[in-house]
This record gives sequence, structure tokens and C-alpha cells, in this order.
Amino acid sequence: MKKTIALGSVILGIAAAPLVAGPDDDALVINDELEMVTEAAAPEHLEGIRTIYSGWRFRTDETQSLQLDDFDNPAMLTVDAALEAFNTVDGTEGKSCASCHTGGPEEFAGLTASMPKVIDGKLVVMEDLINNHRAEVMGAEPLKWSGQEMQGMVALIGLQSRGMPVNVKIDGEAAPFWEQGKEMYYTRYGQLEMSCANCHEDNYGNMIRADHLSQGQINGFPTYRLKQARLISKHNRFRGCIRDTRAETFAEGSDEFRALELYVQSRGNGLSVETPAVRQ
Ligand code: HEC
Ligand code: HEC
Repeated sequence: MKKTIALGSVILGIAAAPLVAGPDDDALVINDELEMVTEAAAPEHLEGIRTIYSGWRFRTDETQSLQLDDFDNPAMLTVDAALEAFNTVDGTEGKSCASCHTGGPEEFAGLTASMPKVIDGKLVVMEDLINNHRAEVMGAEPLKWSGQEMQGMVALIGLQSRGMPVNVKIDGEAAPFWEQGKEMYYTRYGQLEMSCANCHEDNYGNMIRADHLSQGQINGFPTYRLKQARLISKHNRFRGCIRDTRAETFAEGSDEFRALELYVQSRGNGLSVETPAVRQ
């Protein structure tokens, strides 16, 4: 593997720590029955990495354990609240999600594994589907991108795909968006001049300050972060990572982050959807 020594690596003191280098070899089986694929051959389009790993494999035993059982997973409270919202009338049309989706959120099994995708020429992420429905068919106010109501709903829908392999389309109409996201992934941002790849491709397994660097996969998003005590959106995580390079960042819900989401998701094609995951 090529190891780039970027200016930022020196400033941030990225270091190989022999005791924790690389992913561990623990198995993720949820509720004693649902076995997750946390390691897979990299999709063909990836040149810099041969094996892809879920971020779960880089966390401490303590954090890992919170994802083993839904009773211990702190994200489930927010997911329960979203299920209630799903069944609650909202907006001027007097409808709830369940008024039309009578099969419940289970109707959306498999959807998250294929998102983002292009619909009518636009790259659409789950937050878009939810807010478009609220506006167009319910006459309800849009939900704030990284708010707990929105991320709870994204997680509730994601949960219906848990255990299924991530499989986003990157060709055809998706290709230009994917190319845009890929370019962003390899662009060096900020005073530290570091790209996503500098940390998550060249240095995964190494320590950066107190953090064990993963490959920056998003198969577990929205993810419950213990540090922030709430569900974190993909775009919020992207913002945080770019800010850490001391750069101006893009807005949550921007077209740039939609494209980056498609590209990052495609790097995880083959891993199980783990939503909602738990991280420190
Ligand atoms: C007035 C009826 C109606 C209401 C209310 C409604 N939906 Fe829908 N929804 C539909 C129909 C019809 C489709 C399929 C056609 C489409 O994609 O627009 C759909 C599709 C979807 C899809 C995409 C499914 C797929 O496989 O592509 C999602 C996700 C979704 N709805 C979520 C929601 C959520 C969450 C709510 C509540 C916030 C909601 N819907 C409220 C009628 C409704
Ligand atoms: C300076 C190093 C650095 C850069 C550059 C960086 N990240 Fe991160 N990222 C981290 C650290 C540290 C974490 C927390 C530990 C971990 O999960 O890897 C993290 C976590 C993540 C996670 C959460 C993974 C999980 O399983 O919960 C995602 C997703 C992510 N980064 C994506 C990105 C993207 C996309 C970019 C480029 C826009 C980027 N990162 C740039 C350091 C970086």
C-alpha cells in the first residue's frame, strides 16, 4: 500500500500504533442472529485498496459491543421516535406516512442499499425523498437535514435494509455525479492540504491523535456518536472531517455532498448495511 506523507500527516501526528494497527478480526452478529459482512473484496473501481472494512472493525470492544444488541444500541430510541412519527398525521393534507405506506417502513426493504440514486436526472439521497414527500404529498414543513427527526427517519428506513449488501449504481446516469464525488475524495483541502484518501485510504489502521483511523465507510450511517449523544448524518460527518483539515466546507444537503455521498457509498459496495451503527 502506498503511504503518502502529507504535510497534514506530520502536523496531526498520524502514527502507526503497533498494538492497534489495522482492523481487528471480531465478527459482528447483531441480536445473536444477523451476521454482518464487515470485510469484503474491494469493488473493481477502487485502485488504492484491496479489502474494504466496516468502521465497526476499528472501534474499541466497548463501543463495538453497543452495536451487538438492539437493546444496547442508543440509536434505537431515535428510531422508535421516527416510527411514531411515521404513523402520526402531519401537514395540511391530514396524512401520515402510514396513510399511504400501509405496509409500514418494511415497504422500504432494500432501498437504502441502493441509495443515493438518480431520479429524473437528479442525484437523490434519502433525506431528499423524505422531505419531498413531506412537502409534496403531505403539505408538511421540511425536516432539518441533521436534526434527530430527519436522521431518525433515515435510520428507520435504513434499518429495513440492515444486513443487505450495499450496492449503489455508478454507471449510466449516475456516472457524472460519481466522477464529481471521486474528484472531491482525492482533492486536498485546507491548510493541512489533506484529502479524504490521505487519511482513509493511505492511513487507515493508523492512529491520528486518539482516533483509530478507519476507511471512512458510510454503511453504518446515520450513526449514533457517543461523543455527541445523537444520530449523525453522513453530511455532518463529511463536514467534520473537512473542517479538521482547517478548510472551508460544503453545506449539508449541497450537491457537492450528494456527489461525495454517492462516491463514498460506492467504496463500500459489498459491505452490509449496518444502519444505525454506534461510534465514539
Ligand atoms: C399521499 C401518499 C403518500 C404519503 C403521505 C407518503 N408517501 Fe411515500 N410514496 C408514495 C408513493 C405513491 C410512492 C411511490 C412513487 C414515488 O416514488 O413517488 C412513494 C415512495 C416513497 C419512497 C421511495 C420508495 C422507493 O422504493 O423508491 C420513500 C422512501 C417514501 N415514499 C417515504 C415516505 C415517508 C417517510 C413519508 C412520510 C414522511 C411518506 N413517504 C409519505 C405515497 C406517499
Ligand atoms: C485528517 C484526517 C482525515 C481526513 C482528511 C478525513 N477524515 Fe474522515 N475521519 C477521520 C477520523 C479521525 C475519523 C474517526 C475515526 C474513523 O472512523 O476513522 C473519521 C471518520 C470518518 C467517517 C466515519 C466512519 C465510520 O465508520 O463511522 C466517515 C464516513 C469519514 N470520516 C469520511 C471522510 C470523508 C468523505 C473525507 C473527505 C471529505 C474525510 N473523511 C476526510 C479523519 C479524517
